[in-house]
Amino acid sequence: MKFQTNEILNGKYTTKKTTKNVFLVPFTLLLIMFPLILMRNTNESSPNISSVKNMNNKTETKGCDIFDGNWIPYSEGPYYNNETCKWMIDEQNCMKFGRSDEEYLHWRWKPNECELPLFNATQFLNIVRGKKMAFVGDSVGRNQLQSLLCLLSQVADPEDVSHKYTSNVIYFRRYFYADYNFTLGNLWSPYFVKSVDADPNGHSYNSIMKLYVDEVDEAWSSQVEDFDIVIISAGHWFFRPLLFYEKGQLVGCNKCGMKNVTDLAHYFGYKMALRTAFRTLNNLKNFKGVTFVRTFSPSHFENGDWNKGGNCVRKKPFSKEEMKLDGYFLQTYLTQVNEFKVAQEIASNKGLKFLMLNTTEIMLLRPDGHPNNYGHPKDTNRTFYNDCVHWCLPGPVDTWNEFFLYMLNIESNSSYGSKLESVL
Ligand SMILES: *[C@@H]1O[C@H](CO)[C@@H](O)[C@H](O)[C@H]1NC(C)=O
Ligand SMILES: *[C@@H]1O[C@H](CO)[C@@H](O)[C@H](O)[C@H]1NC(C)=O
Ligand SMILES: *[C@@H]1O[C@H](CO)[C@@H](O)[C@H](O)[C@H]1NC(C)=O
Ligand SMILES: *[C@@H]1O[C@H](CO)[C@@H](O)[C@H](O)[C@H]1NC(C)=O
Ligand SMILES: *[C@@H]1O[C@H](CO)[C@@H](O)[C@H](O)[C@H]1NC(C)=O
Ligand SMILES: *[C@@H]1O[C@H](CO)[C@@H](O)[C@H](O)[C@H]1NC(C)=O
Ligand SMILES: *[C@@H]1O[C@H](CO)[C@@H](O)[C@H](O)[C@H]1NC(C)=O
Ligand SMILES: *[C@@H]1O[C@H](CO)[C@@H](O)[C@H](O)[C@H]1NC(C)=O
Ligand SMILES: *[C@@H]1O[C@H](CO)[C@@H](O)[C@H](O)[C@H]1NC(C)=O
Repeated sequence: MKFQTNEILNGKYTTKKTTKNVFLVPFTLLLIMFPLILMRNTNESSPNISSVKNMNNKTETKGCDIFDGNWIPYSEGPYYNNETCKWMIDEQNCMKFGRSDEEYLHWRWKPNECELPLFNATQFLNIVRGKKMAFVGDSVGRNQLQSLLCLLSQVADPEDVSHKYTSNVIYFRRYFYADYNFTLGNLWSPYFVKSVDADPNGHSYNSIMKLYVDEVDEAWSSQVEDFDIVIISAGHWFFRPLLFYEKGQLVGCNKCGMKNVTDLAHYFGYKMALRTAFRTLNNLKNFKGVTFVRTFSPSHFENGDWNKGGNCVRKKPFSKEEMKLDGYFLQTYLTQVNEFKVAQEIASNKGLKFLMLNTTEIMLLRPDGHPNNYGHPKDTNRTFYNDCVHWCLPGPVDTWNEFFLYMLNIESNSSYGSKLESVL
């Protein structure tokens, strides 16, 4: 891995004309320092599940479209905090670095047709007992993994067994829940396909990368057959300057600025990389798992580019009237959905299962959930950029795991033809 401590993310925003004229600034690159110290040690991990009521109701939830709904005010506190969860990393520990407004912690997703049950760690661990689950992708996927570790810490803390599987324990992590014989990990692969630095000056924020869009990145494909549940979760890296290769031939680029190379935009790279990733999962001989595809997670830079003072200082969600999925991000999302649908159909013919964690529009409404400048200490000589890409913990990203558990529940319990039924 060329850059051990840096992560370059990028994306772009456009919005429809809105009643309040919300304008989110396009951005092209974002550097987020990757944590060297990935966890703190604290003995205070007493659960506080007393504050969350279980709203699980099987008969009510069956068949409901949980992604169609609204963020509504919620007076109860979050599931955990930075004292009860020891798995939080500094970059997402917004409270630690002085974020004092708390309204962003008091919203819950309310589907129109039903209740979204609260996350029940015991129930989750019972469903995944004896299973292995991995997030494949970038640091936003890892953000969800970190949320899951915190949600589960109400009931159990795992052993970090990363070193048994890899020497690259920063990018490839594994946690083992002994009481449940459950393995949770991540396979780092921000492009899903083979990538190589193309810049003779080496890797930097805006250096160009070669992407072999039809060749899967073996860093994950060689390991994924071990896993019963896979969450495909990446996107922002595709906004970088990229050269696209197919069958080893240069076919185009994204923002390469070369006159003799066609700019196919990031959609092409994203489309082809997803196609390759999904094809790989559908064709791996021993892969019998269930694949979840988490849709693109919007970023929320306002008042400037990511590297020109752009920030995300809002303290409450957007209303649906204020913010519509549009332009660049809509196209990115649709690119993903199209590839998902093709893969899902191929999978179903092979007895495999693809499910969608349809989070894009929902998270578009949460400009208030990002670390902004609360992911690092204030008094330092280092240059930090505001993080309007990842999500504070606790925070709205916890909702992704509520969706995830909801879907696991339905799949593990559906009476016929369910792939999960056999693997879970
Ligand atoms: C735990 O829950 C109780 C009861 O709802 C609440 O008063 C308390 O503030 C919570 N503590 C934390 C750390 O969230
Ligand atoms: C969580 O799920 C477990 C097992 O399904 C159940 O026994 C428990 O009552 C649930 N917890 C809450 C708070 O509902
Ligand atoms: C579950 O939902 C159904 C249908 O909305 C309702 O009739 C029932 O009372 C609910 N059960 C519980 C335990 O809340
Ligand atoms: C995803 O959810 C949104 C609502 O949040 C909905 O408009 C959209 O149609 C859903 N997409 C798919 C592919 O189901
Ligand atoms: C947790 O957040 C509080 C502020 O709410 C901060 O004072 C404290 O240092 C943080 N603790 C840890 C362990 O991160
Ligand atoms: C633990 O789970 C693995 C599969 O993930 C299985 O092969 C193994 O037999 C299980 N061990 C026990 C003690 O149940
Ligand atoms: C495109 O032009 C650059 C110089 O500007 C050259 O290095 C490169 O080989 C050319 N690529 C192709 C595909 O012709
Ligand atoms: C920042 O740099 C200045 C000048 O080099 C130095 O005096 C100061 O101690 C540094 N502050 C920190 C927190 O490192
Ligand atoms: C599946 O459904 C059965 C009965 O409908 C229930 O007892 C069981 O708890 C459910 N399993 C899960 C994992 O929700």
